[in-house]
Amino acid sequence: MWIFLNGQFVSREAAKVSVFDHGFLYGDGVYETLRAYSGRVFMLSRHLERLKQSAHLIGLDLPIPDKDWPPLIREALVRNGLGLRGAAKGPCDAYLRISVSRGEGEIGLDPNLCSRPTIVIVVKPFTPYPLHLYRNGVRLALVSVRRNLDRALPPRIKSLNVLNNILAKQEAVQAGAFDGIMLNAQGQVTECSTSNLFFVYQEQLCTPAEGCGILEGITREVVLQLAKETGLPVQEGTYGATALWEAEECFLTNTTMEILPVRQIDHHIYTKGCPGPLTKRLQSLFRANLSRFLARFLE
Ligand code: PDD
Repeated sequence: MWIFLNGQFVSREAAKVSVFDHGFLYGDGVYETLRAYSGRVFMLSRHLERLKQSAHLIGLDLPIPDKDWPPLIREALVRNGLGLRGAAKGPCDAYLRISVSRGEGEIGLDPNLCSRPTIVIVVKPFTPYPLHLYRNGVRLALVSVRRNLDRALPPRIKSLNVLNNILAKQEAVQAGAFDGIMLNAQGQVTECSTSNLFFVYQEQLCTPAEGCGILEGITREVVLQLAKETGLPVQEGTYGATALWEAEECFLTNTTMEILPVRQIDHHIYTKGCPGPLTKRLQSLFRANLSRFLARFLE
């Protein structure tokens, strides 16, 4: 495994970060999770844009110029045998994680203590979620943990500090669920710990609006675009928890899971079959249109 660490590719064993790194000490930094399908990265430019935006929102300048990111990502894939040529040997989707921390510095919260961000890119073969989750759907729990306040730690920042989401996940797992749905401080539905939430109500596709305090998911964007293109009525709105009980279908989206059906939320079971008809249609549309959303690197 070859890991990009601050300007060079090093072995996994050599990829070490200081115990004084503010990412480790304070969760001060941002990250992105990406997926490559046979060497082609899903929505690469949007992920890079969101990384830059997250960094900007915490006052961190990425030391790598925009134009250098795609070749760097490509090199990370190729070095790990997961680039286009690697793909010729068989199916080899990749999981990529870009982490950018404030960097190493003396103890203290002031970002000025760090002179240079730490940049890490990890690429590994992609492990899909088990098939039975797509066949049977997952169970979610409505958790008591509220999503971070937008004016405290904006959920649109993909921050290295994910304790809010971890607490939600922990509560859900303790309740025997796959993940937890968080409400915001006003009691409106937001999202799960690492995914956006959709539901179907009277054949309309609904999802919490960005203003509810969510990470502006890139898979969410693609699903909304595909739904609109196919003429499905779509609503980005504000919903209380009762909307979930009244819904006919429900599913989650993120880069690694694509579209994952939800069978049950707490004791409420979706009875239209799982995946429901509209969820199935969107899953097929997603797969049929996938190549439109994959980056083409110059070989
Ligand atoms: N998580 N909401 C949250 C809180 C997330 O962490 C994620 C992504 C999403 C979906 O975003 P996207 O469709 O762009 O992947 C929504 C990634 C997978 C992670 O944390 O690894």
